[in-house]
Amino acid sequence: EFSSSITSVVDVEQKVEALLKQMTLEEKIGQMNQYSGFWDLTGPAPTGGNAAKKYEHLRKGYVGSMLNLRGVENVRKIQKIAIEETRLGIPLIIGFDVIHGYETLSPIPLAESASWDLEAIKKSAEVAAEEAAAAGINWTFAPMVDISRDARWGRVMEGAGEDPYLGSKIAIARVQGFQGSDLSQHTTLAACAKHFAGYGFSESGREYNTVDVGTSTLNNIIFPPFQASIDAGVRTFMNSFNELNGIPATGNRYLQRDILKNKWKFDGFVVSDWGSIEEMTAHGHAKDNKHAAEIAANAGSDMDMESYAYVNELAALVREGNVNEAYIDDAARRILRVKFELGLFEDPYKYCDEQREKEIIGQQAFHDASLDMAKKSIVLLKNKNQLLPLKKQGQKIALIGALASDKTSPLGNWRIAAKDNTAVSVLEGMQAYTGNQLTYAKGADVSLGKTQFTEELKINTTDRSEFPKALAVAKTADVVVMVLGEVGYQSGEGRSRTELGLPGVQQDLLEAIYEVNKNIVLVLNNGRPLVLNWHNEHIPAIVEAWQLGTQSGNAIAQVLYGDYNPSGKLPMSFPRAVGQIPIYYNYKNTGRPTLPAPGRVFWSHYQDVENTPLYSFGYGLSYTSFEYTNLQAEVLSDKEVSVSVMLKNTGKFTGKEVVQLYI
Ligand code: BGC
Repeated sequence: EFSSSITSVVDVEQKVEALLKQMTLEEKIGQMNQYSGFWDLTGPAPTGGNAAKKYEHLRKGYVGSMLNLRGVENVRKIQKIAIEETRLGIPLIIGFDVIHGYETLSPIPLAESASWDLEAIKKSAEVAAEEAAAAGINWTFAPMVDISRDARWGRVMEGAGEDPYLGSKIAIARVQGFQGSDLSQHTTLAACAKHFAGYGFSESGREYNTVDVGTSTLNNIIFPPFQASIDAGVRTFMNSFNELNGIPATGNRYLQRDILKNKWKFDGFVVSDWGSIEEMTAHGHAKDNKHAAEIAANAGSDMDMESYAYVNELAALVREGNVNEAYIDDAARRILRVKFELGLFEDPYKYCDEQREKEIIGQQAFHDASLDMAKKSIVLLKNKNQLLPLKKQGQKIALIGALASDKTSPLGNWRIAAKDNTAVSVLEGMQAYTGNQLTYAKGADVSLGKTQFTEELKINTTDRSEFPKALAVAKTADVVVMVLGEVGYQSGEGRSRTELGLPGVQQDLLEAIYEVNKNIVLVLNNGRPLVLNWHNEHIPAIVEAWQLGTQSGNAIAQVLYGDYNPSGKLPMSFPRAVGQIPIYYNYKNTGRPTLPAPGRVFWSHYQDVENTPLYSFGYGLSYTSFEYTNLQAEVLSDKEVSVSVMLKNTGKFTGKEVVQLYI
């Protein structure tokens, strides 16, 4: 009855209700349970430990969703169990972290945000959705819309930076890109606004740390991109690991019921973060997993990601009267609604087409889109005496730095489905320009290991043995291009830092090279703002190139050689010192904002560093110059003002400018 095609919203609601009526309490709770992919799907079914339990639950209909499962063959196999072996044959929703691409990676989200180009960002999400959907996936845990003002926090790489306005626009672009105009298409994914809420305000930038913010920050800074995501039709939310003002977000009724579901009328579902229900015990908020399940369900967390709390405890909690069954119905209804919208009841295998998978993944068109996005994401921070763009003929160019030949780091931290060594390196990108003599020397490694689960920062290399070779190459060069920064796993989840310089011996390498050749172009590869005072003072040209994805090296080379004129603007302030953090452009005045007279002490300032950032939000240079004239403002109504300005390219290069207006 519920497998025929859907024609309207009313239709969906009727089908959901009809199905709900047939479901037992355990089956409804099953919809609220999500497991991670757990066995070699091409091999025999699992036997030991958790895997066996999960498999048993799957067959009973006690699993509503799987994550970290990918590839048509694998997804089909699991989906088949849900469809053919469970009593009601309800399809699974298959989630995956498609954060900035699937196998073909685009720049990390912070980098994309530096483009300020909403069309390009939307396109990038569209491409990611199409490629991931071809691999059997129908739900992404993106976009992360957490505003953050703290570069110490490693996850700033996954967000849109510090500004709730730009962040909201980008949230909309990304949700629309992932979801398209029709969720039931086999090329689109359900999106997920995360992490609700406050994750980006963790105390002292330390990952998972306590969050304590006032109502103004919550309403004016943290909430807007989430609200914007709902306006754009986002179908799911993820809650958050952190405590917010005394209560873990996962068990926070104010956030999930009062605000999200009641005030904002969100009718999709909320998934917990990984194990965040169970973690309420460690928070000291719940006494055990059962208590955690009770708190989370009552607070409005609809789906349990890997805590085993709902599947093991919820039925008893309902029977004992501690969780209202209406809450279970509500959660199951929300989850089923999204499954119907995705068209999974119509055809549970609609994302499982081997032929399409083969044809679509890694398509040239995706690489083209990734390159376009990568070029637009680069920010020119300094260009003294027009050292850039580089001349294309007759130059001796020294290329130095381990990151210059690194084909994995540009893929960033979220690259689960991408293969290592598949990014175009800067070395490869520059080799495409054959008019110059290019010599490469590593100089020094950044870190010793490159895995997702080891501590990169603690194992930064101290090895200087390759310095002499690099110095020799630099000495005779016309221009030295140095690619320095963080390896892919030095930002992202669990990668907080207290110092924001160049890791390892890279600073020493840079200063040593500077002694023999001052004509340096510094290309930065990093997932967060860095502190660059020395660099700004000494190095003539600085290019912020983040982690730009699969086409990284081509994008960087094209910018260095002037085939693309950089147009990016920073989405986050770059501090002069870590001690200034949190630092952001839209700060409030104090009662003593300015120096009253030379040498006076009692005003809002530091003794050792200026108040301003080194590079502010919105900053970014071009190879050309722009002139702004004739600013005019006209009040259209009590809600609208129209502002216009004449913009003129006054330089020698074709260029793009992001016109910014602040009020
Ligand atoms: C992250 C989420 C992510 C989830 C699933 C968590 O550790 O915080 O953002 O979606 O894992 O991989």
